[in-house]
Amino acid sequence: MSKAVVLGAAGGIGQPLALLLKSNPLVKELALFDIVNTPGVAADLSHISTPAKVSGYLPPDDGLKKALTGADIVVIPAGVPRKPGINAGIVRDLATGIATAAPKASILVISNPVNSTVPIVVEVLKKHGVFDPKKVFGVTTLDVVRAQTFAAEVLGDLSLASKLTVPVVGGHSGVTIVPLFSQSSTPLPSGFTKSDLEALTTRVQFGGDEVVKAKDGAGSATLSMAYAGAEFAEKVLRALNGEKGIVAPSFVHLSADKEGGEAVKKEIGQDLEYFSVRVQLGPGGVEKLHGLGSITEYERSLVQAAVPDLASNIDKGVSFIASPKL
Ligand SMILES: NC(=O)c1ccc[n+]([C@@H]2O[C@H](COP(=O)([O-])OP(=O)(O)OC[C@H]3O[C@@H](n4cnc5c(N)ncnc54)[C@H](O)[C@@H]3O)[C@@H](O)[C@H]2O)c1
Repeated sequence: MSKAVVLGAAGGIGQPLALLLKSNPLVKELALFDIVNTPGVAADLSHISTPAKVSGYLPPDDGLKKALTGADIVVIPAGVPRKPGINAGIVRDLATGIATAAPKASILVISNPVNSTVPIVVEVLKKHGVFDPKKVFGVTTLDVVRAQTFAAEVLGDLSLASKLTVPVVGGHSGVTIVPLFSQSSTPLPSGFTKSDLEALTTRVQFGGDEVVKAKDGAGSATLSMAYAGAEFAEKVLRALNGEKGIVAPSFVHLSADKEGGEAVKKEIGQDLEYFSVRVQLGPGGVEKLHGLGSITEYERSLVQAAVPDLASNIDKGVSFIASPKL
C-alpha cells in the first residue's frame, strides 16, 4: 500500500488520472497538487468508496512540500499542452520540490516533451545530490497503448488490444517513437504489406495529432493519456509491492542498469544517455533494461532516424538546467 502524488492534478490528464489512482487498491493515500482547483477535485474524489485517503493542495502554505512528503510514487502531468518552453520551467520547479521533499520516490514524467523533461528532472536531482537512475521514468505508455489498439484494429479484433504486447522503443515524440511490430505477441495479418506497416507505424508516431485535430486544436490526448499513465503507475506500484516479472517500456537514463544500458548503446550505435526500452521493474524501480532484440531492417532504419532527434531533445533538457533559457 503506497502514497501516490499527482502534480498537475486539476488538468485534463490530471483529473481522470487521479480518478483511476483513487480506484487502485494499491494506493493507500492520494495527494493532489496543482496551482488551481485541487481542493474541489480532492473533495469530489474523496466521496468514492475505495480505501485511498485523498487530499488536495495548492502552492500557499508549503502545499507542494505537504503533498510530496512520504510519497512512494509521483506522477507529473503538470504543464501546458504543446508549449514545451513553459513546461520546462514548470517541470524544473516541481522536480526541485521532489528533490527536497520526496527524494526517494519513483518519478513518472508525463509533461511533454518527455525526451527533454526527463533530462530536466534528472539534472535537478543531480544538483541536489539525490539522483537515482532507477527511479526516474518518462511515461511512453500511450505509444504502447496506441500500438496495441491499432494492431488489434488491423487484426479485426479489438478484444486483443489489452492482451497483445508490442514493444515501443526510442523516445516519445514523432519519429523518435519506434514501435517494434515484428515483436508483437500476436503477429500482424498475413498479407500486411510494407506500405501498410509504414502507415501503421506513422499512425502510432503521430497518433497525438489525430486527437488534437478531432478536438479542433483545443486540447490534446487527456483520457487515453490518463489511462496509459495509470496503467504504468500500477505496474510501478505492483513491483514496489514485491510482484516479480513486470516489464514495461519507459524512457529512462541508461545508467539505471549499467550492463543492460551499455548493451542498448551498442545496439543503437550511439552513446545516448537516455532511450526508451523495455524495463523490468522491481521494488527499487528499474531492475533490468532489455535490449531491442531481433529487429527488422525497417525497424533498424526507424531507430537510426530517431537517434539525431533524440540526441538534440536530450541536449535541450540538459542545457536548460545548465543555462536556463525559455
Ligand atoms: N506523455 C504523454 O504521452 C502525453 C500525452 C498528452 C499530453 N501530455 C502532456 O501532459 C501535460 C498536461 O496536459 P493536459 O492536457 O492535462 O493539460 P491541462 O492544461 O489540461 O492541465 C495541466 C495542469 O497543470 C497545471 N499546472 C500548470 N503549472 C503548474 C505548476 N507549476 N504546478 C502544478 N500544476 C501546474 C495546470 O493548472 C493544469 O491544471 C502537457 O505537457 C501535455 O503536453 C503528455
